[in-house]
Amino acid sequence: MKILAIESSCDETAVAIVEDGRKVLSNAVFSQADMHALYGGVVPEIASRKHIECISALTEKAFADAGLEKTDVDAIAVTYAPGLIGALLVGVGFAKSLAFALDKPLIPVHHIRGHIAANYIAFPELEPPFMCLVASGGHTLFVDVRDYTSFKILGSTRDDAAGEAFDKCARVLGLGYPGGAKIDELAKTGDAMKYKLPRAHIDGAELDMSFSGLKTAVINLAHRAEQKGEEIDRESLAASFCEAVCDAVVPRAIAATNIAGRKKLAVAGGVAANSFLRKRLQKEAKSSGIELFFPPLSLCGDNGAMIGAQAYFEYLQGNTAKTDLNAKATLPVDFQR
Ligand code: KG4
Ligand code: ZN
Repeated sequence: MKILAIESSCDETAVAIVEDGRKVLSNAVFSQADMHALYGGVVPEIASRKHIECISALTEKAFADAGLEKTDVDAIAVTYAPGLIGALLVGVGFAKSLAFALDKPLIPVHHIRGHIAANYIAFPELEPPFMCLVASGGHTLFVDVRDYTSFKILGSTRDDAAGEAFDKCARVLGLGYPGGAKIDELAKTGDAMKYKLPRAHIDGAELDMSFSGLKTAVINLAHRAEQKGEEIDRESLAASFCEAVCDAVVPRAIAATNIAGRKKLAVAGGVAANSFLRKRLQKEAKSSGIELFFPPLSLCGDNGAMIGAQAYFEYLQGNTAKTDLNAKATLPVDFQR
């Protein structure tokens, strides 16, 4: 079954064609990050407009790259939640009209479920159940993937997502938006022990996290140094920050895997690209006898292929929609239909 999948929940417009949930036939992505960099973060109105401008051309590219005609696909999938509402609506409106014009089924896909499904593309042998650490610009959570369309959240951030904290820290260090990958690079030559940054702990909710205190600590540190006319060691601050994020995420990811009784831990989302996180997880998963799955960097950030992968399993469950499908800005990954 060939599915055309559309993703427009944030600042990437993406269209892909995926066969049977695991084989990518084409994966066209247009990132608007450069346009938002000017403002230090995503401007929702600009995001919606850019999606409108390039979604048709990207769809043509996805068909051309796959060497397929429009009538060759069996269904149209689209990210309908969660995300920026105006941005989501562009993809949803476009997908609905395509499904209607081609008389094909329409499959609504949850964005985070898509991130998790990137692992099915990267690891054709991977099947649920497994634990998944989702760490993106908007979400940080531990999801027990009980089946392809059955999820349970075991823990999540109480405030900012890890990616948000990375982007804020990058802004303070003058690295521009989005800054996660730049912090990662800078941190490689820093001393992670140099700056003492806070680690949050939530009594009675051991698997929940908080990154707003860490974010504020970095901002205050930079401002105090500026006021005193002192230079900050940017490499070491970046390294200390990465270490603090790893301390928050890695032990909880291992604990969540054990609590759920899983032997496999998959990672998903843009922050999963972080090299420090990868190293720490590799080390701690190994010593806990947990098998670790890391999708390649190209599948960690937002893309259409991951939506096409999840769409296949949603379709098998009968999870299709009619042309009255609407976008939703928020929706938990373990929502019940
Ligand atoms: O999953 P994603 O592409 O979009 C959302 O759904 O949010 O994640 C984007 C986030 C951004 O905050 C970006 O700074 C972060 O992922 N990111 C990284 C790295 N590469 C991207 N964070 C840390 N280290 C990286 N190497
Ligand atoms: Zn995402």
